[in-house]
Amino acid sequence: MTDLLAKKRDGGTLSTEEIDFMIQGYTRGTIPDYQMSAMCMAILLRGMDERETLDMTMSMMHSGETLDLSPIRGVKADKHSTGGVGDKTSLVLCPMVAATGLKIAKMSGRGLGHTGGTIDKLESFPGFTTAISEETFFRSVNEIGIAIMGQTADLVPADKKIYALRDVTGTVPSIPLIVSSIMSKKLASGADVIVLDVKCGDGAFMKTEADARRLAEGLTRVGRLAGRRCAAVITDMDQPLGYAVGNAVEVREAIAVLRGEEEGDLLELCLTLGGCMMVEAGFAAGIGEARERLLETIRDGSALGKLAAMVEAQGGDARAVYDPALLPDAAIKLEVPAAEAGYVSHIRAEQVGLVSMHLGGGRATKEDTIDLSVGVVLRKKVGDRVEIGESLGTIHASDPVKAEQAAELLRGCYELRPEPIERPAFIKAIIR
Ligand code: URA
Repeated sequence: MTDLLAKKRDGGTLSTEEIDFMIQGYTRGTIPDYQMSAMCMAILLRGMDERETLDMTMSMMHSGETLDLSPIRGVKADKHSTGGVGDKTSLVLCPMVAATGLKIAKMSGRGLGHTGGTIDKLESFPGFTTAISEETFFRSVNEIGIAIMGQTADLVPADKKIYALRDVTGTVPSIPLIVSSIMSKKLASGADVIVLDVKCGDGAFMKTEADARRLAEGLTRVGRLAGRRCAAVITDMDQPLGYAVGNAVEVREAIAVLRGEEEGDLLELCLTLGGCMMVEAGFAAGIGEARERLLETIRDGSALGKLAAMVEAQGGDARAVYDPALLPDAAIKLEVPAAEAGYVSHIRAEQVGLVSMHLGGGRATKEDTIDLSVGVVLRKKVGDRVEIGESLGTIHASDPVKAEQAAELLRGCYELRPEPIERPAFIKAIIR
């Protein structure tokens, strides 16, 4: 390992065997944290070429169990988001895509940070569980076309250890390290088609479009070299996605989109990601045709039906899909009146996430419990006109003191300008 460190420090290229020695050794504990930390920093500073990045991804993928999806008939699709605020995309996208006949076999995680992850959000349906056996997972996907399972402990143990180091050594923002981290997990989860939502902007960890594009190209290239069909969509995170940030509030918004009651950036994202999935899977000749078929799943109610079928198959109360009043609901709803008039020019996405966290909607440590009922529902987005006293958003809270504090914090998330704002393009690029 000392030789490999010197080689990478001096700008050299590591061989397939050297990368495998390093990843397997670190996973088993024969290479110590201090050497792996130094290697992450050397990779961040010196980079890795495409062959090294692919080798690191494959070695990490094989550091633990991999999921064999062959018991599932048909083409299997999965999606990944690099993480954003108000990101309830999977709750809308997966049922829509499943309603077109493409199989969704998805592994999801819990959130650590400002809001819950997809699993936490889905647990807003009373009784719902993602702790299902592989057998139940395969049966659900075969029978209803969709299932979401919690990540098993043994999937890509190398990433758990390496990410924990990167998090405390300033080595998260390295494209080869991010690509190998994300793609090792996606490849280990077994899907044929992988679509990636790469966020850029204030609420994302790729702040510029150029960096987001480099990441998206790196992710899709490694996916294709590993034999999967891959596409990526670069999207704006200079404001939260959709209107709701929290858990049950996000589920309500997802249901509203699936009922055809809400349009905007969330629907647009789901049509674009879903369109890419269908084209990559050979289910549609082009994105235009795919979007039309996805919209039809909203009009004919089949996407909502898929969500209900999945909730029921995984032990949840599916009546809540048709009657969202059955979802957890916060005792306090507090409007946040604007102190000045103008046009919304920016909404600090990350800060809105922290408001939800302050209310109890996120986790600071893995052991924390989440209050599923709390969060924020924005009423104004970038480009909207606001009058003095008009509500910027609604705080959903369980505690009156925290509600008042959250209202003040939310007001501080908004930037207003006197002149009208041109809404920025939300979909920045599609990489196929
Ligand atoms: N998400 C991941 O899973 N890994 C990274 O390195 C960054 C984001």
